[in-house]
Amino acid sequence: MTSVLADSYGRVATDLRVSLTDRCNLRCTYCMPPEGLEWLPKAELLTDDELLRLIRIGTTRLGIEEIRFTGGEPLLRRGLPGLVAGSTALTPRPHTALTTNGIGLARMAPALAEAGLDRVNVSLDTLDPVVFEKLARRRRLDDVLEGMAAAARAGLTPVKVNAVLMRDVNDHEAADLLRFCVEHGYELRFIEQMPLDAQHGWRRDTMITADEILTRLEAEFDLDPADTETRGSAPAELFRLRGQCFPNGEPATVGVIGSVTRPFCGACDRVRLTADGQIRNCLFAREESDLRTPLREGATDDEIADRWRAAVMAKLPGHGINDPSFLQPARPMSAIGG
Ligand code: GTP
Ligand code: 5AD
Ligand code: SF4
Repeated sequence: MTSVLADSYGRVATDLRVSLTDRCNLRCTYCMPPEGLEWLPKAELLTDDELLRLIRIGTTRLGIEEIRFTGGEPLLRRGLPGLVAGSTALTPRPHTALTTNGIGLARMAPALAEAGLDRVNVSLDTLDPVVFEKLARRRRLDDVLEGMAAAARAGLTPVKVNAVLMRDVNDHEAADLLRFCVEHGYELRFIEQMPLDAQHGWRRDTMITADEILTRLEAEFDLDPADTETRGSAPAELFRLRGQCFPNGEPATVGVIGSVTRPFCGACDRVRLTADGQIRNCLFAREESDLRTPLREGATDDEIADRWRAAVMAKLPGHGINDPSFLQPARPMSAIGG
């Protein structure tokens, strides 16, 4: 029996974001401390078979239409091509996407495309190797750029690029990043930093807001709103760059993801599965629902589906970042899944 993952505010979750690991090979300052974090023990991680069972239940019984693999860094998970292939073999076939830091993508892109992956989003916050090393604490900019190019060649398109702008770190590069992405046919989105870092270093007063991002871009580009009618549940507001095209001739665009100052929670269609088998109905949820224990204790598909539906039903109306009583979730973004 198929039924949907509805919440009490009438939203329906159709987008399942699956975190495959909490580990990462970068140490972005807005995410992790230099020494990394205490990683989840292996025994607590869902196996590939367990993940595929939950993906099957979500897709065939609960109305999930899109699977996004995230991390930590999902390319660190050895079984990724098999997970993609197992997902795309399902009926109905879900749309599949990967959100990655791009390291290792140059090597993996052909196998992922072969496994049926539809597209990738890659994090790229700077084009300057010195800034990259300061921000991500590793010298890997070239790997990321090669990964993006390989993804485009393998047809994992559109390649979307995520850039978190940070004051006095990379905010002077907004226009350069946009020119680079337009030239290469990548859809750039600038992201407001959210209070999800492990070190709790986020500050509202230094955050670069969507308004500020747009003001800066408008000094160098003519922007026209592009998706007022068609945005749906997308986190990014899209703008066309007047008079500019991508190499394929399509109009060039830029997105702004204003999670904090322009929340899109009212249209949210997401539900998350952590690498250790917990359902989170929101990035900022204060509670999780454990699916790993029932899975390992022999629960039927019906029982798991019931638990999953109840978890989504309890979803709150919004993230609450702007409430005076807001408390950052206990898990950082790298362990929740981006
Ligand atoms: P597509 O546009 O469909 O490719 O997906 P996406 O933008 O959701 O995917 P991606 O994983 O690239 O996420 C980009 C950014 O969106 C993240 O860095 C977050 O800043 C933001 N984001 C993703 N999911 C959520 C969410 O559930 N809530 C909020 N507030 N922000 C989110
Ligand atoms: N706020 C906003 N975006 C973040 N990301 C990681 N941490 C944060 C944060 N605190 C972004 C990464 C990546 C995506 C998965 O989430 O840059 O593109
Ligand atoms: Fe790794 Fe992503 Fe966190 Fe950077 S933001 S350290 S790439 S998980």
